[in-house]
Amino acid sequence: MKHTKIVDILTSKSVGNKYTIMGWVRTRRDSKGGFSFIELNDGSSLRSLQIIADNKLDNYNSTILKIYTGCSIKVVGILKTSSGKGQDIELYAEDIHVFGWSDPELYPLQKKRHSFEFLRTIAHLRARTNTFGAVARIRNTASHGIHSFFRERGFIYLHTPIINGSDCEGAGEMFKVTTLDLNHIPKNEGKCDFTKDFFGQPSNLTVSGQLEAEAYALAMGDVYTFGPTFRAENSNTSRHLAEFWMVEPEIVFSDLDDNVHLAVDFLKFIFSYVLENNREDIEFFNKFIDTSVIKNIETLILEDFEYLTYSEGIKLLSKAKEKFDFPIQWGVNLQSEHENYLCEKIFKKPVVMVDYPKKIKSFYMKLNEDNKTVRAMDVLVPGIGEIIGGSQREDDYNTLLERIKEMNLNPDDYWWYLELRKFGTAPHAGFGLGFERLIQFITGLTNIRDVIPFPRTPGNVSF
Ligand code: 4AD
Ligand code: MG
Repeated sequence: MKHTKIVDILTSKSVGNKYTIMGWVRTRRDSKGGFSFIELNDGSSLRSLQIIADNKLDNYNSTILKIYTGCSIKVVGILKTSSGKGQDIELYAEDIHVFGWSDPELYPLQKKRHSFEFLRTIAHLRARTNTFGAVARIRNTASHGIHSFFRERGFIYLHTPIINGSDCEGAGEMFKVTTLDLNHIPKNEGKCDFTKDFFGQPSNLTVSGQLEAEAYALAMGDVYTFGPTFRAENSNTSRHLAEFWMVEPEIVFSDLDDNVHLAVDFLKFIFSYVLENNREDIEFFNKFIDTSVIKNIETLILEDFEYLTYSEGIKLLSKAKEKFDFPIQWGVNLQSEHENYLCEKIFKKPVVMVDYPKKIKSFYMKLNEDNKTVRAMDVLVPGIGEIIGGSQREDDYNTLLERIKEMNLNPDDYWWYLELRKFGTAPHAGFGLGFERLIQFITGLTNIRDVIPFPRTPGNVSF
């Protein structure tokens, strides 16, 4: 059914043209002068288009007066300049057709503001609100920006598997994949007999596409993946999801410095791209959600990031007057309170932290000569903390084998990954960006459940 997107009408403002538009009614109000005003939104823009329906229309009493919030309609009309407040153009209806009714007594969305908690219980309808429409458009633009960035730099977009046999992060927070009947598990010596399972061995949903990306980087040059990622960590925080999207570039003949530069350029590019293409949506968040959103994005684009080692960070944090819930000493994992303190209180800008203790990082990170730290890199941003995690990779066979054993992992599970160090190994590095944390930073939305269409968290998998 041929029709015009409201965003195109709002942009071109071709007064006098006849248009057919389709969308969902936000409100209808009737004036004493014999007109009804209908706000129509089709998801293409934050702004709705105002429709004027004259009571002389044939179906005014039978249909138009029964149109309420949530109805889906088609309008054919002429675009005119508006003398009313709040809009400069409006569509003067010649014909209005209702596709789908919406009972005002039952429709859960009303004109008033709803709480985010309530909207999470109606995730199938929340895309019809200003906030969630804007989030969806920003996710779309940011995704395009990500592909453009890597394309311009000659990276290959790689599709890594969703089902895996080994644990990339070595942290064991994985969802199992099985076709076994859980009520009748085949056993061998009292334990589950995975040889009877679909893959003949245990398998899980991927926690990262990195290991496979490394294999392709060591053949094709620079590659990246962008896909769904799964973590079964039972953390009910405002920055963790059980299913999230991760962008993972892997660069070869490269070291940690190259990786840091790539991460910084990448973030600056994506933020500029979204600011340029979704200004209106971002202004909406700046006005209604967090009035520092635009300032934060601009700081990130314009200013140099602060660069320091983990050890330097620990020194700064141990001198801090702040009382942390988790005490600070060399060797501990940084908590968000520490990350936020560094970004927000000390530096007031994004921070790149490198050279973390090997004990708190993954087995694949390149060991430094001190034998205590690894060539890891985290990018921390104000309000979110860690947005990117990455490293230079261990490219020496024997060191990697030792590290796998040291972390109590089974070298057999990583035979092919080790083999990449046996045949034509090369210095390489990469990182992972949490896509939802990026969207949190852009929108100022404090809960990660509100920046993905259908969030999966412990206990929540409806929709
Ligand atoms: O730091 P992480 O665990 O790094 C990796 O997975 C590496 N394999 C990446 C690589 O080097 N190719 O995760 C990367 C990023 C984090 O910085 C964070 O932004 C995001 O992924 N992330 C999550 N986002 C939402 N929910 C979760 N449960 C997340 N866990 C990590
Ligand atoms: Mg990390």
